[in-house]
Amino acid sequence: MQLTKDEEDILAGESGAAKQKAMEILVALGEIYEAEKLVPIESAQIAGVSYKTIGEAGLEYLTELNGTVAVPTMLNPMGMDRNKWGQMGIDETFVEKQLSIITRYELLGIDAQCTCTPYYVNAPRYGAHISWAESSAVAYANSVLGARTNREGGPSALAAALVGKTPDYGYHRDENRIPNISVRTDFHLSGSDFGALGYAVGKMVKSRVPQFSFLAPPNADELKALGAAMAATGSVALFSTEKQTMPREVLEIDRSDVDVYSSDEPEVVVLGCPHCSRSELAEIAHLLDGRKVVIPLWICTSRFVAGRSSSLISRIEASGACVICDTCMIVSPAFEKRTMMVNSGKALEYGPSMCNSATFMGTTAGCIAAACGA
Ligand code: F3S
Repeated sequence: MQLTKDEEDILAGESGAAKQKAMEILVALGEIYEAEKLVPIESAQIAGVSYKTIGEAGLEYLTELNGTVAVPTMLNPMGMDRNKWGQMGIDETFVEKQLSIITRYELLGIDAQCTCTPYYVNAPRYGAHISWAESSAVAYANSVLGARTNREGGPSALAAALVGKTPDYGYHRDENRIPNISVRTDFHLSGSDFGALGYAVGKMVKSRVPQFSFLAPPNADELKALGAAMAATGSVALFSTEKQTMPREVLEIDRSDVDVYSSDEPEVVVLGCPHCSRSELAEIAHLLDGRKVVIPLWICTSRFVAGRSSSLISRIEASGACVICDTCMIVSPAFEKRTMMVNSGKALEYGPSMCNSATFMGTTAGCIAAACGA
């Protein structure tokens, strides 16, 4: 890989040990993937934030790291709502460890908004190179916003954030952004059906670039759910819904392929994977108006969206449901070993493996009905 003089200097340690280590990671990655150069990025997003997932080793790694990020950088969800952790039943030892992790990230100059929907806070430009780690956000940024990012790991996204650059390979390059399998659905889909579709299609297409044709164009929330689920059950990082030359290989999906809904009895209902948009909060508020929950109902969103949706949150919480920020049902210890109902294909995939929770999926309306006992 060709490095500029400035990049060589960073690699030689002239900008400090943290940037030197970061450059070593980027160069190693670039060599593995045969990148010819580094490209400047406009933002980064770091995964590996919850104490539940990174534990003591992650905290120690962060404690030894000094330096300042070179581009605007945000964090993925952590293990608790920073204000409502008591309500979530999080113990004080966990809180202390979690807050230490957040402080370490803040000392690196990172904006400690902990969300998997960083694009609601700061949407990348069409065509911008970015370095994001959260797989659902990667799918959304590449496919809906037209930005360019690979599925970064926590360390590689942090390295890119510190240097402000990433190796030019994978989804940064035009030739890898061409759809290579058509996915046809000749039946009506709406809302959570897109998460169910993504759950099924991700397993089938794995890491390919699917191009969808739908009877009606999905909205942004539906595309978010589709991409998140495909990124979880496959490793899809980019998909298309544009009408262009269709790839020759065709996958026909019928209604039975996406019938993942079930009506078991949950101990807890959790919505907001990925974190709810304002329009999703509005839908939930509408469904809850005049009702009371009889099973705990939690709704995950970002602090940014919550801060702009206070009247919707009041309506939601009048039912006894609770809106939480900074965290989610998968990375928080609060939802472990509980029978969990979700409206998300991604949470359906990760609930059993990451929370040891029996997890089943319903539509948003079905989840609200279950939480309200009717
Ligand atoms: Fe976000 Fe957690 Fe789902 S990070 S995409 S709500 S698993």
